[in-house]
Amino acid sequence: MDMRARSGWLQPNWPRGEGQGIPVVKWLQGEKNSILDERIELQNLACGRAAMRKVIYLDNSATTMVLPEVAEAVREAMEKTYGNPSSLHSMGVEAERILRNAREEVAKLLGAQPEEVYFTSGGTEANNWALRGLAHALKRRGRHIITTAIEHASVLEACRRLEEEGFSVTYLPVDKQGIVRLESLERSLREDTILVSVMSVNNEVGSLQPLEEIAKIVASRSPALFHVDHVQGYGKIPLPLKKLRLAAVSLSAHKIHGPKGVGALYLRQGVRIEPFLVGGDQERNLRAGTENVPGIAGFGVAATLARKNLPDSVQRMAQLKIRLAEGLLEGIPGAHLNGPEPRAGAPHILNISFPGVKAEVLVHMLEEKGIYVSTSSACHSRRQEASHVLKALGLPSSHLEGAIRISLSRLTTEEEIEEAIRTIKECVEELRRL
Ligand SMILES: Cc1ncc(COP(=O)(O)O)c(C=O)c1O
Repeated sequence: MDMRARSGWLQPNWPRGEGQGIPVVKWLQGEKNSILDERIELQNLACGRAAMRKVIYLDNSATTMVLPEVAEAVREAMEKTYGNPSSLHSMGVEAERILRNAREEVAKLLGAQPEEVYFTSGGTEANNWALRGLAHALKRRGRHIITTAIEHASVLEACRRLEEEGFSVTYLPVDKQGIVRLESLERSLREDTILVSVMSVNNEVGSLQPLEEIAKIVASRSPALFHVDHVQGYGKIPLPLKKLRLAAVSLSAHKIHGPKGVGALYLRQGVRIEPFLVGGDQERNLRAGTENVPGIAGFGVAATLARKNLPDSVQRMAQLKIRLAEGLLEGIPGAHLNGPEPRAGAPHILNISFPGVKAEVLVHMLEEKGIYVSTSSACHSRRQEASHVLKALGLPSSHLEGAIRISLSRLTTEEEIEEAIRTIKECVEELRRL
């Protein structure tokens, strides 16, 4: 089966890696990497009750395991390169060099120029900044914003704030696959529309949005800027920045095996935005505050490693996801896929319901067996309310209750997927018997 032809994950415009030779690649190819093995053992021990049992981590949309090379870069920046990048002396210059290298690597993985990358404290800040910063910079031209009903909370809440400040926001509906309805975008564009914000990959169901069509519709009818929350797509889905004429793109390090609390906003050169934080002149006067040099160092290494494994690791991950979907759908009566068909969705996210089973109970039962998945998005899962994404897909309540999200990374192995299929089947059967 030609995976490239059947889905949108892999297109020829991926920035190709420069080759092999790094430990994680060898590990993926089956060679032993002692640092990584050690880390996995530590991870097993850290998981309390699951200690001594192999951990199968399938919650990679919530966050990914930090790679040893990344942790090493963070540690080195903390212990050795601890100068302030704004200082004039050599220690400051060294720290500044780390920022420069990381900016280049983060930009390369996105296909951008380093001058277009601004470091932030994560995807949430990048989204808040893009929405608020662009809206306020453009408010003399208009006050209408378009987004979708299934965006991450950091986009939706930023929009709600903007509504309180006098902007009007249209939330586009999605179909059963979680894909935005283009007719409603066409109907919603107005003369005063200044900004359209659509995510590339939905974090709960893995739907891929038709960004090319959206960009065409927007460009043909309005001068509105286009922002993409690419937190779940970065390093997995190519994003042709120029073709889509994107003004801004949000990224996060911890979804690509980097540290938490660091991310970036891509801003096309020449796009005007209000600063996010004011104070010092860091990040070209747009995001004040001493830079998180260790986090940024780790982000840079994570981006380098992700690029070097492309596109094979993504294709492998996609095949494993398809196997997982088929195994669960065939093996568990009544199992229902939420969102796109496995071949049409993102390579790493699967959302599936088992009617008659409460998702929270299943998640804890799986945890007892060393398998880590989640109910909906990690940021809402403690609120105990049905996910806004699943509701927007129009799912019946029986499907909402029993929905779990299983998300892979490029470290996920075939054995882990086979074990997960077996264990999920056993647990669902047991819960249904109770
Ligand atoms: C689609 C999407 N956008 C934004 C974010 C927020 O990123 P961060 O956790 O770096 O703040 C997430 C995190 O899960 C996400 O999945």
